[in-house]
Amino acid sequence: MKINTKIENYVFDESTHKALFKLSSNNIITSIDSPISSGKEAITFLGHLEKTPLVAKIYKIETSKFKNMDQYIKGDFRFRNMSTDKRDMFMVWASKEFKNLTLALKYNVSCPVVIAREKNIIIMSFLGINDKSFPRLNEIDFDLDKIYPQLIDNYAKLLYGAKIVHADFSAFNILINPISQIISIIDMGQSVTYSHPKSKFFLKRDIINIVDFLSKKFPKIEITYDMFLEDLKKKKVELYGR
Ligand SMILES: Nc1ncnc2c1ncn2[C@@H]1O[C@H](COP(=O)(O)OP(=O)(O)OP(=O)(O)O)[C@@H](O)[C@H]1O
Ligand SMILES: [Mg+2]
Repeated sequence: MKINTKIENYVFDESTHKALFKLSSNNIITSIDSPISSGKEAITFLGHLEKTPLVAKIYKIETSKFKNMDQYIKGDFRFRNMSTDKRDMFMVWASKEFKNLTLALKYNVSCPVVIAREKNIIIMSFLGINDKSFPRLNEIDFDLDKIYPQLIDNYAKLLYGAKIVHADFSAFNILINPISQIISIIDMGQSVTYSHPKSKFFLKRDIINIVDFLSKKFPKIEITYDMFLEDLKKKKVELYGR
């Protein structure tokens, strides 16, 4: 495993190092090259398998934010037997994102292709060009007529196909290929199954977030909560029947 020396500043703990070396000996990823983003719960890196760019999302072991993470795990029947010990949470979180992305892919949601999960690390396809991630939806001008139908299509597949509520659906978690204007939904660590007791609350918040963003971006066009929800339901019928 080749780890760029600058990355050593991130000081991975021993268990993360071991996980990285396991991924490398299994020929899943051969180098970790540069940080893409350092978020609240995870650090995202650009890596490679030989010449193929990949993303390694490494959930941080030490983070205060984990205090809030409980609510997304408790109530998700898939994790009912999991330990809620703070030290195990980062692994649960990575495994949750892996499962959510896998399910989303199965229902043709446009999102990164997950390749492997080892402890607190997820390896997935890189969405970008020339080692640079595609911009987030809030970072670029786009044609609403091209994007709105994709938002509906992807969210409907996630909600009614995969039966998952994203729970952090915002312009920050949507990448856009600036050339094709094709969007991808990312960041599903916090996503919950529809049966989760708070899923309706999260769904409402997701719709409010995106509608609010679009209304500010396109003040002359009327985009409402009811309209978005209606379009999701219409899409459901179109995709899966009644
Ligand atoms: N598959 C990918 N391909 C390219 N870039 C990616 C990919 N996944 C994530 N990124 C980049 O890394 C950033 C952070 O990813 P993500 O949102 O999954 O992590 P996060 O820990 O939730 O970060 P934050 O707290 O900032 O939201 C994204 O905004 C995006 O720029
Ligand atoms: Mg994010």
